[in-house]
Amino acid sequence: MNRIRVLTGITTTGTPHLGNYAGAIRPAIAASRREDVDAFFFMADYHALIKSDDPARIARSRLEIAASWLACGLDPQRVTFYRQSDIPEIPELTWLLTCVTAKGLLNRAHAYKAAVDRNLEAGEDTDAGVNAGLYMYPVLMAADILAFDAHKVPVGRDQIQHLEMARDIAQRFNHIYGQDFFVLPQVQIEEQVATLPGLDGRKMSKSYDNTIPLFAGGAKALREAVMRIVTDSRLPGEPKDPDGSSLYTLYRAFADEAQAAAFRRALEAGLAWGEAKQALFELLDGQIAPMRERYESLMAQPGHIEEILRDGARKARAIATPKMARLREAVGLGSHAATAGASAGSRPRDDKPPRLASFRDEDGRFRFRLFAGDGEELLLSRAFEDPKAAGAAQKRLKQLGAAAAVVQIKPGSLLLELDGETLGSTPEYGDEQARDLALERLREALDMLAAAA
Ligand code: TRP
Repeated sequence: MNRIRVLTGITTTGTPHLGNYAGAIRPAIAASRREDVDAFFFMADYHALIKSDDPARIARSRLEIAASWLACGLDPQRVTFYRQSDIPEIPELTWLLTCVTAKGLLNRAHAYKAAVDRNLEAGEDTDAGVNAGLYMYPVLMAADILAFDAHKVPVGRDQIQHLEMARDIAQRFNHIYGQDFFVLPQVQIEEQVATLPGLDGRKMSKSYDNTIPLFAGGAKALREAVMRIVTDSRLPGEPKDPDGSSLYTLYRAFADEAQAAAFRRALEAGLAWGEAKQALFELLDGQIAPMRERYESLMAQPGHIEEILRDGARKARAIATPKMARLREAVGLGSHAATAGASAGSRPRDDKPPRLASFRDEDGRFRFRLFAGDGEELLLSRAFEDPKAAGAAQKRLKQLGAAAAVVQIKPGSLLLELDGETLGSTPEYGDEQARDLALERLREALDMLAAAA
């Protein structure tokens, strides 16, 4: 079966709360159990550095988040689960992508623009307090996704633009280097997924300081938070409106249908808010307590988490490392550039070796041409009176290699010299850029011939 590769990143700032659990962790783990899904989940700890320069917080947060996902049932055998910062190919790819990304594209990123707008409003310099990491955020995120050829990327609505940028950047790279190096990732917005209300009824979010902790502080902290959920002032016995109550919304996100219906009826029949909160706490704790126990035992053995993440990085790099090697070749940074024959299969254009073809011209003299693997003519030899001399010149050419080639640049074409004599010339090229490309291709072909000789 062709499995769909689903990949998502978790920014490692803060400690998971109930909203993260219902909105991201729970649905992602459920999806990862599907037979047709090949799931990649990773901790975006490089992204975390953009927001925080507190080393202890960074270290703590990624440990807590790893432990949380594992405690919630993520199976590291099944899912490729790793830390972004354990994959050196990601920052490497980030640079290759940076160099094909229009600066103007990044100017339009929502997060950066919001920072600029805040500055302008405050009468500050446009970029005051903005680090270049924030600016580059979308490129790093594109690398996260493209390094693994993910098909689907489940994210929140606020990330849609980042996915569009990842596709843009991938397309641009594919176009420039002339091959479909990257799968174009699709955004996956989970429509039914619960966005939970927080203590004050607004969306549960760290930035509103209205969260209910998932594990931190144990059952006691969970209970205390639930008791602080804001309700209206209806008295015990007075009918409550479930649809206007965040208590009910929270309850429903964790209950089955029968439980939710019963809770609704009880509220409508006048259940006291205090009792309703107790019922919500019990429902939540019933599901969280077993996970909390696993969480605490994992947090007590950070070495074990470390091992799991190292294994995950190994699995991830088994994909990213060969991919990155291919990309390095594609942009001209390949370690095999001088022995291209060995890696010919991964070259964007010259996947076939160059070849030489002899012929006799109208005057009956002997010449040959050098063609690139894709059929483009690279060189036409001078005329030889003697076929043996032409053959010897071909033999020399095959062993020459780019490093030893002497190329004279003439207006409009290039001359290849051998022993101080012109051996042949390239076809005429229109402009300097085309001539540089011709030189590049000629050198490539000479290296490939030499490698095969
Ligand atoms: N930017 C994402 C967020 O804040 C996290 C993230 C980083 C991510 N890299 C990613 C998500 C790659 C999906 C794919 O939610």
